[in-house]
Amino acid sequence: MSILVTGGAGYIGSHTVVALLERGRDVVVVDDLSNSSEESLNRVRELTGRDVTFVKADITDRSALDAVFESHTIESVIHFAGLKAVGESVAEPLRYYQNNLVSSMNLLGAMADHDCWDLVFSSSATVYGDPEILPIPETAPTGATNPYGQTKLMIEDICRDVAASDPRWRISLLRYFNPVGAHPSGNIGEDPNGPPNNLVPYVMQVAVGRRDKVSVFGDDYDTADGTGVRDYIHVVDLALGHLAALDHLPKGCDVYNLGTGNGASVLDIIETARDVSGQEIPHEITDRRPGDIATSLADPTKAQTELEWRADRGLELMLSDAWRWQEKNPNGFNEPD
Ligand code: NAD
Ligand code: WQD
Repeated sequence: MSILVTGGAGYIGSHTVVALLERGRDVVVVDDLSNSSEESLNRVRELTGRDVTFVKADITDRSALDAVFESHTIESVIHFAGLKAVGESVAEPLRYYQNNLVSSMNLLGAMADHDCWDLVFSSSATVYGDPEILPIPETAPTGATNPYGQTKLMIEDICRDVAASDPRWRISLLRYFNPVGAHPSGNIGEDPNGPPNNLVPYVMQVAVGRRDKVSVFGDDYDTADGTGVRDYIHVVDLALGHLAALDHLPKGCDVYNLGTGNGASVLDIIETARDVSGQEIPHEITDRRPGDIATSLADPTKAQTELEWRADRGLELMLSDAWRWQEKNPNGFNEPD
């Protein structure tokens, strides 16, 4: 019996595959490598001393997915595969709806047809839009502000409807806050294509000398230092959250915030990154980025209570592990030029 991990060659997926293999589980990864490299899985094998089956396939192709279920006995699925860049989703909405929705519907259909009912899905704190309550509980109103976020809300609804249609389903929707950091070995980590959209990989590329300076998107927010505050969570804690979710699948469908409950500002990130890396991080204040909010902060109580999971790796560890990955792999998984 294996666990199927869609998108398992990607950033969060590869860290979760390590955690699964270390727990003694057998894993099949299906990924089309549209935003990742097979090298991540080679590193996973080296790190764990275990093999992982890899199928290169686009899961918007239902027949490719059926073939995976026919050649392996799959007991449960963790579904990471999807496109995730907010700005790109505004520019290319149909590509986002096509990829994220069709892949998820194919997966649910293939699972039911192959008598597999246990699913953990990667949702996002982006579904809370601009939150009215802080920290944000799962019961807070949802509302997406971009096509990427819409796909997450729509997939959540599809999962709820599917779970209501057959009592065998057990589906956990995990709303991640801001995943950062890397495996402590520094051998796997986040490897964005082109200039990073997200703060921490950008800061790390400045620290390593690949980029000149960080633009701080606004210092006039209603926060302690005026810069945006987020709930950053170590990717290893997040990976362990998936194992906890698998161990505590609900009857039907339920939703959990995965965050720490602690906030850090953009300037906190820059200062801590400078401390742990010993590198100067040149930065300048620029205009706000359209669509950004002042503060995002999880109320993680439900996951702590029901999943018996807690994210306890702090900001220094998040950034020192991110730095180790960046310093050891200045070009990510690509060979140096
Ligand atoms: P990632 O891009 O590193 O991983 C996603 C993987 O899915 C990639 O390896 C990509 O090649 C693969 N993929 C995409 N479409 C596919 C398809 N049609 N068929 C097969 N494979 C496909 O991203 P990540 O940061 O690891 O995110 C994983 C999941 O978590 C995504 O669903 C993302 O939306 C969600 N999420 C991420 C964040 C974040 O900040 N990283 C936050 C909240 C939620
Ligand atoms: C963090 C803070 C920026 C870059 C995004 C998605 C969200 C989720 C996680 C998938 C903000 C500031 C950033 C930079 C900056 N992904 N910033 N300079 O926007 O909270 O969330 O990733 O689900 O959906 O929207 O993360 O890392 O982009 O930004 O000043 O170069 O850093 O304004 O305050 P965000 P981020």
